[in-house]
Amino acid sequence: MAEGYIEAGTVAELQPGTMKRIDIGGRRILLANVAGRFHAADDTCTHEEASLSAGVLKGALVTCPLHGSRFNVCTGEALEEPAEENLRTYPVRLEGERILIGLPEAGTP
Ligand code: FES
Repeated sequence: MAEGYIEAGTVAELQPGTMKRIDIGGRRILLANVAGRFHAADDTCTHEEASLSAGVLKGALVTCPLHGSRFNVCTGEALEEPAEENLRTYPVRLEGERILIGLPEAGTP
C-alpha cells in the first residue's frame, strides 16, 4: 500500500518516555518516544473508545486509562485483556528535527 509521510512535529517536542496524540490525515495517532526512538500507533484503544495518550507510558508499554489493557507501542501488540486486538502501527522517519509519520493514502481504510 502506498504511504504518504506527514509531518507530526519536531524531535524537541517529545522527550524520551513521553507520548502525545496527534490528529492527522483523518486519524488519531499516538506518537511515543521510547528511549529516543519514535513510534506511531492508533491512539484509540481496540477495546473501547479510550484515548491511549491519556494513559501511562512505561518503556514501550502503554496502559489504557479506561480498563487497563496494555499495548506495545512499537509493535502494536495487545498484551493484556480486555483488549484482544492489536493496534495498527505506522512507520516513522526523521528528517533532521522533523518527525514524519507514514499514513496510508487518503481514502484507504
Ligand atoms: S477502553 Fe482500553 S481497555 Fe477498555
